[in-house]
Amino acid sequence: MKQLTAQKFRAVYGRAPEIVAYAPGRIEFIGNHTDYNGGTVLGAALDRGVWVAVAGRPDGRRQFASDQRGAPVEVRADDLTKRGGATSWVNYPLGVLAALPVFGATAPKGFDYLATSNLPSGAGLSSSAAIELASALAFLEMAGERPARETVVQIGKHAENNFVGVPCGILDQGVSGFGQKNRLVFIDCRGPVFATVPLPGDAHFWIFNTHTKHALVDGLYAARHRECMAAARGLGVSLLVEADAAALEAGKAKLAPEIFKRAKHVVDEIARVGAAKVALAEGDLVAVGKLLTASHRSSQFLFENSTAELDFLVDALTTTAHVFGARLTGGGFGGAVMAMTSGAFGDKEARAVAAAYREKFGTAPDVLHALTGDGAMLL
Ligand code: GLA
Repeated sequence: MKQLTAQKFRAVYGRAPEIVAYAPGRIEFIGNHTDYNGGTVLGAALDRGVWVAVAGRPDGRRQFASDQRGAPVEVRADDLTKRGGATSWVNYPLGVLAALPVFGATAPKGFDYLATSNLPSGAGLSSSAAIELASALAFLEMAGERPARETVVQIGKHAENNFVGVPCGILDQGVSGFGQKNRLVFIDCRGPVFATVPLPGDAHFWIFNTHTKHALVDGLYAARHRECMAAARGLGVSLLVEADAAALEAGKAKLAPEIFKRAKHVVDEIARVGAAKVALAEGDLVAVGKLLTASHRSSQFLFENSTAELDFLVDALTTTAHVFGARLTGGGFGGAVMAMTSGAFGDKEARAVAAAYREKFGTAPDVLHALTGDGAMLL
């Protein structure tokens, strides 16, 4: 893909790029909506993502192109206004440019920019974090700066929170930044502190992308964020991570029933992340699988960020041989289901699940046997 990205850059701009950077998409393994509540989460970087190629321009013009859109978009170097419509994808690199000075880094003035991707977008696999991190690495390199990986991750998150306007936690950017092949990234979001743990050899990931997306997905995500903060206030803590199951039960009367359900999802989910980490260390994939499915049920009934399509896939997968567990991955309200399977699960099983889904909903999901990969890097 590096070669291909450079070729496309040449085709658009008539010269070679000076810098190419890459950042992967991610699977949320377990830890649903725990990150912005200060909890813990496990994720895996995929072996696919976004490549960003850049070359400086002395005339101070900024041009942005993507292999998925038409002609380059020109944006004045002093123009950091958020865009709408067909060019709104430019908000990701623009958000990074706006974030750089906040972290003491210099935003390059003029450049030609091209992004390519082999990651399905809108599937809940964090193509947005991938483009943010690849852009951040490329821009920092242009400015001759190589800050710590934590800083690159925070630049990406800052762009998403403050420019794109999604109040996400650190999961997506953290996993894209710290991913390693055959390992899961464990994040304690309060630091945040990043670590990796080995992924047992017989764990395979299959992703079923429904191509459905709730029209209000960003608004619903923000609403869940608000509900969690209201729950924390009601319980007298600053973030839900400070409340355990006993504290939540004790404070139940102080919370509206819906707010209690949201809080219970988060508190139980943080406990499930801990249990999954232990079971992974023991190589007990059956136990891990049960936790994954329990996480989905909690999304379905308590956090209410699932959909009929996602529930159908989890039901079909968890009654299929060689599947340890399955759950929605990411924010929810559409997107994809991830299944953890043994190596005995193959195309035949995946096709049967996809066919049952098609029978019910009229369209087939995209199926991806996903491999883990390394985190963001300069190439
Ligand atoms: C999205 C957000 C993450 C996280 C997940 C839900 O992917 O970007 O920060 O909150 O949803 O766990």
